[in-house]
Amino acid sequence: MATLVTGGSGFIGSHTCVEMLNAGREIVVVDNYCNSNPEALRRVRELTGKDFPQYEADVRDKAALSRIFEENDIDSVIHFAGLKAVGESVQMPIEYFDNNLISTLVLLEVMREHGCKRLVFSSSATVYGAGNQPPLTEEMPLGTPTNPYGRTKSMIEDILRDLCVADKEFSAVLLRYFNPIGAHPSGRIGENPNGIPNNLMPYVTQVAVGRLPKLSVFGDDYDTPDGTCLRDYIHVVDLARGHLCAVDYSANHTGAEAINLGTGEGYSVLDLVKTFMKVNEMDVPYVIAPRRDGDLPAVYSCPDKAKRLLGWETEYGLEEMCRDSWNWQKNNPNGFNA
Ligand code: NAD
Ligand code: UFG
Repeated sequence: MATLVTGGSGFIGSHTCVEMLNAGREIVVVDNYCNSNPEALRRVRELTGKDFPQYEADVRDKAALSRIFEENDIDSVIHFAGLKAVGESVQMPIEYFDNNLISTLVLLEVMREHGCKRLVFSSSATVYGAGNQPPLTEEMPLGTPTNPYGRTKSMIEDILRDLCVADKEFSAVLLRYFNPIGAHPSGRIGENPNGIPNNLMPYVTQVAVGRLPKLSVFGDDYDTPDGTCLRDYIHVVDLARGHLCAVDYSANHTGAEAINLGTGEGYSVLDLVKTFMKVNEMDVPYVIAPRRDGDLPAVYSCPDKAKRLLGWETEYGLEEMCRDSWNWQKNNPNGFNA
C-alpha cells in the first residue's frame, strides 16, 4: 500500500518524501511543477537510493488523478499541492481559490471513488487569525484570515470537518504548520522560491550568498523583547517527520483532527538573523524598516497535542535551522536552476 504525495516536488513535500522512503514507506508523487523543479525528486531518489512512481499532472485534472489511483494501491494521501504566497493571493484571488479549493475537491472525489479515507492536509497557523494570544492551542476559536491564501486554508479545514461528519470512516489530519525553514542536512534539497523571496529565511540566505544587498527587518517597535516579531520557526526535517506520524495516526483514528506542528518557541527576527551570522560565521547586512502590513507581533504554537496524539516532538533547534538553510543555499546558489 502506498501514500500519494500531492505537491511532492515542493519544499516540504520533497523533505517528506525522503523521510517516508527512509522509513521504508511506499510513495507515489503527483506534481505539476508550477512552483517546483522535478530535479528535487531526482535528488530525493539520490538521497534515499529508492524509486517511486512520479506523475506530472495537475491535481484538478480528475482523469489524470483517477488514473493514478487505478495504477497504484493508494490507501492514504498527504496533500501539499497548492499555491502559498500570501501577497500574490491578494493580487490573484481567483487563481488561489481555483487551485487550492478545486484541487482538494477533485482529490476528495477521486479518493471517495477508490474507497481511500485517510488524508493528511497542509494547513497553516494563519487559520488562528489575529484574536488569539500565543501559545496557540488547537481548541482556540479560529480567526478571520486576512488574505485569500489564508481563507483557502480555513475553507479546506471546514470542508474536511464537514466530510468527517458525513463519512464516519474518514480520517482527516489538519496539520497547522508554523514557520518551516532549514533544509535537508545533505544540502541536496531545500527551499527554492521564485523571484525575490517574501519569507525571512530565504531572504537572509540570498543576502548571505550575495544575490540581494541587504535585509529589511520589518519593524522594531512591537511589544516583544527586542521589538521585532516573534515566530515559531521549525526545521523542515522535523516537519516532514510529523507527516509520517500523522499518516500512521490516520490508520487508527477517524474524524477531523487539527494538530499544530511547531517547536513551541518564539524567536524574534533579530534572534534569527544573529543566530544565522554566528553559526555560519558571516555578516548579513540589515536595516530596520517600517512594519509590514498584516504582520502579527507574536505567533507561536503550543506543541503538546502533537506530542500526545502523534508521539512527535521536534529535534532540531534554531542553530541547526540556520546551518542547514545556509548549507543548502551556498551549495545551490541558484536553487535547482543551477
Ligand atoms: P511549495 O510551493 O514548495 O510546494 C507545493 C507544490 O505543489 C509545488 O511543487 C507545486 O508545483 C505543487 N502544486 C501546486 N498546485 C498544484 C496542482 N494544482 N497540482 C499539482 N501540483 C501542484 O510549497 P511548500 O512550502 O512545500 O508548501 C506545501 C504546502 O504547505 C502548501 O499547501 C502550503 O500552503 C502549506 N504551507 C506552507 C507553509 C510554508 O511556510 N512553507 C506554511 C503553512 C502551510
Ligand atoms: N520579515 C522581515 N523581513 C523580510 C521578511 C520577513 O523582517 O524580508 C519578518 C516578518 O515581518 C515577520 C517574520 O520576519 O515578522 C516572519 O516573516 P515570514 O514572511 O517569513 O513568515 P510569516 O510569519 O509572515 O508567514 C508565515 C507563512 C505564511 C503563513 C503565515 C501565518 O509564510 O504562509 O506564516 O501563519 F500564512
